[in-house]
Amino acid sequence: MERAISLDHRYPATHRDAFCIPSYGSMGLKSDGANQSDYSTVTYLCGNSLGCMPKSTRNAINKELDAWADRAVESHFRHSGEQQGLTSWMDIDLPLSNLLPSLVGGLESEVAVMGSLTANLNSLMASFYRPTSSKFKILCEKGAFPSDFYALYNQCALHKVDPEEALIRLEVREGESYLRTDDIIRAISDNHEELALVCLPGVQYYSGQWFDMEKITKFAHQFKDVVVGWDLAHAVGNVPLALHDWGVDFACWCSYKYLNSGPGAIAGIFVHEKHSQVGSSDNGRYLPRMAGWWGNNRERRFQMKEVFEPISGALGFRQSNPSVIDVVALKSSLEIIQDFGGINALRERSLLLTNYLVELLTALPNYHQKLPKNTSTAGFTILTPLAEKERGAQLSLLFFPHHDDRKLDTMERVFDYLNERGVIVDERRPDVIRIAPVPLYNTFQDVWRAVTLLNEAIKSIA
Ligand SMILES: Cc1ncc(COP(=O)(O)O)c(C=O)c1O
Repeated sequence: MERAISLDHRYPATHRDAFCIPSYGSMGLKSDGANQSDYSTVTYLCGNSLGCMPKSTRNAINKELDAWADRAVESHFRHSGEQQGLTSWMDIDLPLSNLLPSLVGGLESEVAVMGSLTANLNSLMASFYRPTSSKFKILCEKGAFPSDFYALYNQCALHKVDPEEALIRLEVREGESYLRTDDIIRAISDNHEELALVCLPGVQYYSGQWFDMEKITKFAHQFKDVVVGWDLAHAVGNVPLALHDWGVDFACWCSYKYLNSGPGAIAGIFVHEKHSQVGSSDNGRYLPRMAGWWGNNRERRFQMKEVFEPISGALGFRQSNPSVIDVVALKSSLEIIQDFGGINALRERSLLLTNYLVELLTALPNYHQKLPKNTSTAGFTILTPLAEKERGAQLSLLFFPHHDDRKLDTMERVFDYLNERGVIVDERRPDVIRIAPVPLYNTFQDVWRAVTLLNEAIKSIA
């Protein structure tokens, strides 16, 4: 505990106060009465699932509600908060172009906010997956987030391509817990003639593995007409990215995890300038897309003409007018991230926190480096790669032994033990708990407390 306190002094969570961290009272949990009151904050280590609410979000949303009440439709062009620097709704998302691109390493013109993650993945696939009879395969992973799998599977079907033949679903090797980069590279090489698309997650939701995005992207691009797209749900705001320099073709993400924009809030896309520029020299040719009026020439948008002249850059891929409330919620959080020092400062503190978590977990008596064969004693192993460059903030812990009866199962019992004591983590049935200290608001004492209680939980079972 002393060490955690001293680490918190040395590397303080300077922006913790900018967030609403749930309390025992608000969560409906019993505090212990001695060290905690109903107002004490819980140990929230679940920002990989849903980031905490920035305190500034409520005010930002209220101002848009005021504008709606004050001027209704006119707020699209004449916002009642203009004097306070608020943006009219027509351009509500444009201020994000100063805040978001640096998080993904994109040019301003390559990044836009729109829609939601799965919808955006489907939209981008409409532009980037154009199979032919000889080039139609998609390299993805077995165990992908189900929404991604459903999208990929149905994109094949939409093109009358047999998904069973087209999807190369890479599997983690027997006895291992994450994909080897060499296996991905080999699969690209072995299939390059028929390969149309590589679509992988930047950080894998289940194992927490951060893929070698640069190597995979550059390797795939050696081959003719292979497109590379990334799902960055667990990567954006978590690890530094350089999508433009790596030559990534497209990417999409949600913003309710490490970007703290609120449940289901507006998502984001990256489209490399090589695909998103609309040429003036070649008659305004553009990449075909799922189009809508918000991607159309801003000046002529309200002329309601049947001429589609997409805005050059990622903004030209937007379809609908964005949810104003979502956009300002995202903006509040991005401003805090900017004030913190951006993604590199976040990553620096994130490594300190997660390294401390690794250190404490691997010192526990019931930690196993590998999943033991046939053990009846409760314990856990870590699925996430431990090397810094192969992971972000999240560690995924696999508990054993498994019991189908929820009341006897190790993971379920550990999860309940933690939850009842105000350690909020995330379970992935049947046996995994994911823990993510978030550098914006978590402390070393959060990490210490979670591991101390986790140890108690296992001991009580073992
Ligand atoms: C990796 C990944 N892909 C897709 C999704 C689905 O996101 P949405 O419901 O915002 O489309 C999630 C949600 O957590 C996710 O983690």
